[in-house]
Formats: sequence, structure tokens, C-alpha cells
Amino acid sequence: MPVIETIKKALHLDHSSTSTPAASSSTAPSSSTAPAAATDLAVPATSITHETPAFDSKDVTVLFVLGGPGVGKGTQCANLVNDYHFVHLSAGDLLRAEQIRPDSEFGAMIKDYIKEGKIVPMEVTVKLLETAIGDALKSPPAAWAAGTSPRFLIDGFPRKMDQAHKFDDSVCASKAVLFFSCTEEVMLERLMERGKTSGREDDNKESIIKRFRTFIETSMPVVEYYRGRNRVYEIPAIGSKEDVYAKVRVAVDEILAK
Ligand code: C5P
Ligand code: MG
Repeated sequence: MPVIETIKKALHLDHSSTSTPAASSSTAPSSSTAPAAATDLAVPATSITHETPAFDSKDVTVLFVLGGPGVGKGTQCANLVNDYHFVHLSAGDLLRAEQIRPDSEFGAMIKDYIKEGKIVPMEVTVKLLETAIGDALKSPPAAWAAGTSPRFLIDGFPRKMDQAHKFDDSVCASKAVLFFSCTEEVMLERLMERGKTSGREDDNKESIIKRFRTFIETSMPVVEYYRGRNRVYEIPAIGSKEDVYAKVRVAVDEILAK
């Protein structure tokens, strides 16, 4: 069976014989008619084929965080978690967690895709993100309970146009994109340094080159798509982390004031 069919079957997205009810637009994840016990992914059997997004963008702010591998997305997201009380969801981290989850039927596939620097079929990644958002809304951080509106940084996502459309349409319409730009030379240097301690199977020169290629060919069109809709805040990720963060703050203040 082709890999995409296997994924759809496991996630109950093969709706050839069943129909999916339209989701509500509340902040709670919608329920689904799919049998809960049959899925093997570490997520409840909610549907990602919503006709309306599972979470309403009036209640939930979603910022996508994009930029080449090693550009410093994770570092800057950590600053924003401290100062603005975002919940930070890294698509790569969620995929790596799913990869090593003992019962996952996607572990081997995810491993292959990551090593090759290729984009994992979006059904898996969107599902993991939708579940993580739902979990955070169910157990919000203290700052949200104290009045900060629910807000998420979705880091390293969307890396491909199909992910962008699927997320905006079925999970939550995104508000803006923070895009970190940098030269490949600088990113390569940072990744080779990180590779000494990261333990990541893709922080080696061969995988890094493939990741750069995927970023240019597959992910930059996503940036351009949102740029065409005036939603991209481009931040040159050059100089010290503090210098970069000062620029990030200006952008985030502007986005949140909208
Ligand atoms: O963002 P990060 O560098 O952690 O991503 C590692 C790998 O995870 C990517 O090279 C890709 O194989 C996979 N990935 C994906 N789709 C995403 C994010 C990451 O397939 N949206
Ligand atoms: Mg990262």
C-alpha cells in the first residue's frame, strides 16, 4: 500500500465510506465518529478534515515560525515563551517524539524522512500539532489562566504548501509568520557546532545539505505565499542572539497589537 494510504488509514482519514461531521468553531477540539481505540498515533481520533477550523482564530493566536535549518528558531521561541507566554510547539520535536514512541506505526517512516531532510506526509504532522494545541488548551499555562490570551508559536511549520493549507483550513487560521533569514554558510556552521552535542541524526553535513535544498525548493514557496498576503515579518538572523531578539520583539509587539 502506498505510504500515504497507510497513513490515512491509521489516522482514519480514508473517508471513502464514512462522512465527517463539520467541526464546531469553539476552542475545544471537535469530537469525531472515528473509532477511538483503533488509531496507533499518540493522539485522540479527532478529525483533521474539518470544514471549519477546530480552533477559532478569534480566541487562539497562531504564529508560524519559519527559517532555514539552524537559523535559531528554537532559541528565539524560548525567549518569546518567557516574555510573551506563548506555548511553543516545534513540528520537528513532535515528529522526533513520535518517531521514538514505542507503539508508533510511523516511527520508521519518520526516521527515514528526517534523515533524508524530506518533509514528512502532512497528515501526521498536522495531527500531532492539532492534538498538542488541544492539550495545551485543556491544561493551559498559568499565565493564560491569569489573563494572557491563548497563543502558540508553531516552529518549523508549515514547511510545504499542503501543510499550510491543511493547518489554516482545519486546525486554526494563522495570524502571521516570523521568518528568520540567514546565509547557508552561517547556518551550516551553527548546525555543525550543534551536531557535536545534539545527538540528532540529521545534524551531519550530508543531511544538512539535503535540508537546505528542501528548504529552498519546498519551504520558501510557503514564505512567499504568506508574504504575498502581507503576513510575513522577516527578521535577519545575523548578529548576536540578543540583537536578533530585539528585532523579534518589535515584530511580535506589532502582530499582537493587530
Ligand atoms: O525543524 P527541524 O529541523 O527540527 O525538523 C527536522 C526534520 O523534521 C525536517 O528536516 C523534516 O524531515 C521533518 N519536518 C517535517 N515537517 C515539518 C517540520 C519538520 O517533515 N513541518
Ligand atoms: Mg528546531
